[in-house]
Amino acid sequence: MSLPNQPVTLSVNGAPADVRAGLHDTLLSVLRDQLQCTAAKRGCNQGVCGACTILVDDRTVRSCLSLAQNCEGAHIHTLEGLNDRPDMQVLQQAFARSGAFQCGFCTPGMLISAHALLQGNPGPDASDVRKALSGNLCRCTGYTKIVAAVLDAAATLRGEAVSP
Ligand code: FES
Ligand code: FES
Repeated sequence: MSLPNQPVTLSVNGAPADVRAGLHDTLLSVLRDQLQCTAAKRGCNQGVCGACTILVDDRTVRSCLSLAQNCEGAHIHTLEGLNDRPDMQVLQQAFARSGAFQCGFCTPGMLISAHALLQGNPGPDASDVRKALSGNLCRCTGYTKIVAAVLDAAATLRGEAVSP
């Protein structure tokens, strides 16, 4: 049985990170409260909204549902660690161009999910995008502009003309 506040070593955005986690501490709380990685948002805190989405070993994960003690040795990427990647910059520019955010609270999770989609499928259609983002809720925009932004980014990354 795990002890409370046991040390956990993670790789966060390419750098080793030593944290301490109790039995019920989530990856989200460790990232935000110990490592100041605040791009992942605490929305519902119960696995519904997707605002806390990050990559763990290159797979999208809701960090509010992941217990930190179970993540020893995991390779974690948050939006902070992906911001400088050209594909993420293309996605962010497409979101801005399409007006795909208002308050922005859902946007980091949306970007992580969209990034993961495009890594595996550079030519998604709207249905693919909606499916990939189905676990990410947005209370502001509706989803039309978000889907358009991801399709726009995918086209740009393929070297195709961006729609006006
Ligand atoms: Fe994790 Fe909502 S905060 S799914
Ligand atoms: Fe506000 Fe999505 S832009 S929740």
